[in-house]
Amino acid sequence: MCGIIGYIGEEKAAPRIIYGLKKLEYRGYDSAGIALIDSGKIERFRAKGRISNLEEKIKREPLKGVIGIGHTRWATHGKPNEENAHPHLDCTGRITIIHNGIIENYFEIKEELKRKKHKFTSETDTEIFAHLIEEYLSEGFEKAVETALKRIRGMYAMVILCADEPDRIIAARQGSPLVIGIGRGENYIASDVPSFLKFTNRAMFLEDGDMAVITRDKVTVKNRGKKVSRQVRNIKWSADQAEKSGYAHFMMKEISEQAQAFEDTILGRFNESRGEIKFEHVDAKELKKIKKIKIVACGTSYHAAYAAKYLIEKYAAVSVEVDVASELRYSNPVVDKETLLLAVSQSGETIDTIEAFKSLKQKAGYSIAIVNVVGSTLSRMLHGVIYTHAGPEIGVAATKSFMSQLAALYLFALYIGRIKGKLDAKFVRRGIQNLRKIPGLIRIQMKEKRSIERLAGKYSKKRDFLYYGRNISYPMALEGALKLKEISYIHAEGYAAGEMKHGPIALVDDRVPNVFIAPKNALYEKIVSNIQEIKARSGTIIAITNRSNKEMKKFADDIIYIPDIDEDYYPLLEAVPLQLLAYYIGVKKGIDVDKPRNLAKSVTVE
Ligand code: M6R
Repeated sequence: MCGIIGYIGEEKAAPRIIYGLKKLEYRGYDSAGIALIDSGKIERFRAKGRISNLEEKIKREPLKGVIGIGHTRWATHGKPNEENAHPHLDCTGRITIIHNGIIENYFEIKEELKRKKHKFTSETDTEIFAHLIEEYLSEGFEKAVETALKRIRGMYAMVILCADEPDRIIAARQGSPLVIGIGRGENYIASDVPSFLKFTNRAMFLEDGDMAVITRDKVTVKNRGKKVSRQVRNIKWSADQAEKSGYAHFMMKEISEQAQAFEDTILGRFNESRGEIKFEHVDAKELKKIKKIKIVACGTSYHAAYAAKYLIEKYAAVSVEVDVASELRYSNPVVDKETLLLAVSQSGETIDTIEAFKSLKQKAGYSIAIVNVVGSTLSRMLHGVIYTHAGPEIGVAATKSFMSQLAALYLFALYIGRIKGKLDAKFVRRGIQNLRKIPGLIRIQMKEKRSIERLAGKYSKKRDFLYYGRNISYPMALEGALKLKEISYIHAEGYAAGEMKHGPIALVDDRVPNVFIAPKNALYEKIVSNIQEIKARSGTIIAITNRSNKEMKKFADDIIYIPDIDEDYYPLLEAVPLQLLAYYIGVKKGIDVDKPRNLAKSVTVE
């Protein structure tokens, strides 16, 4: 995720901004930039790659400005190059902006501004906001930002400078974090505390809908036009804690960021009232010709892909095969011009997935990569690409990237269902409504995480776990087991619950907990039978079911409740407790959950 830093004070701004950007490096980025106001003019420098490339550019410049902004960009809209790097400017070069998040309706606004003869120099959604402010600048800087904000939809953290009013920074937050560092005779604005913690530990966190005007010695905050006061907190974090926003581990930080990752992945890709879904880099005409889909992935990405199989077959009536890339690359699959190949990968660099596609891509009719890292090998290799907007994931265990893959795949299943003429707009609208509910429900789940921590305490000494699910909850059982073994080193297996009688039932005793994913759906009765079979043999049951299901108390030793939702959408809520259970068990066992032994974040060798 991009990093934001702004400074206003008496010191030269450039060194403070470069320092702040370096402290935000851990978030991951592919370009960096800085803009200052000096002698009534904006000076801007940007560079692809490391911050050191940016430093190289500004080293010979006498940068005297005492107000400025800086940004590290993790590409989402447009390639990771200098043109797309922030800060962006308007046509006159008097307004400059940095931004995190997504402006959902940027395309419409860009078209409108083009008609008014605005010239754009980047592929980003961000740049349109500088031009939009320019349109209203005769109202004054502050008013112009207020008016422009009313025009946009989406998730953002924006920080803006205007050369005409060099005594202020304006910042706005909707969905993406922003925090003001309150100093003496100087103030900071940043996406995260570490960027200014060395200079001040007094922080004011902005809330959604806030717009702040920051001068050297004053901060004024309005929320949707009304003046509000926001508490100033003393931050007691160490530098290391600050990078993790106060969380003990990146893994927990990333689990907590899932609601956001989900939102960022779906936003801008649908029109709810029309029941329409669109993907920028996917050719719908090609998809119309498709008769079979083959999805290829590894590890957690494979589990996301597996869940998609159930959805796509149900919504589009197209046959879907899901393959583990390491197996597929040495087999002879039937792929022809009526086959769509889908690669699912967080990193886009997993060697097995890349190699599997090298030989298959030519044979297929069309191919799409669903990846998180913009510009990664897979994102460039296939015909189309759908980016998941999870931001950088630092913990080795995939969590928020899984959630964002599911977000993209749920949308894709609805999309292809519509393209194939199997779904009507009403059904897709209902699907979009369900997807829109998910971030809020995940946030509620996170508030209840302590109950899962208690459960983890009860089971952390066990040596084996079995996970069971049916239908679309089966891949969640696979993922729950994978998460547990990765970060707690406890042996765990995931099974389709219907397979229980074909083998794993032999393992039932009072030492092996059985985690059953059992929401009230069409197959609920069947899974309850499986649970009863284990209970009858004195096995231990941990059930994950929906809150309104009161009868589970009769069968399970422990229950993790998830919110009620339309049944196809339960997996999105099952993932969170499964991750939390694994996390807390790993932590209780004293394992470094961010870097579990023997595992690499990206598997680039066979
Ligand atoms: O980058 P990718 O999604 O292609 O990576 C695939 C797997 O290596 C990855 O999901 C791995 O299984 C994780 N450690 C799971 O937590």
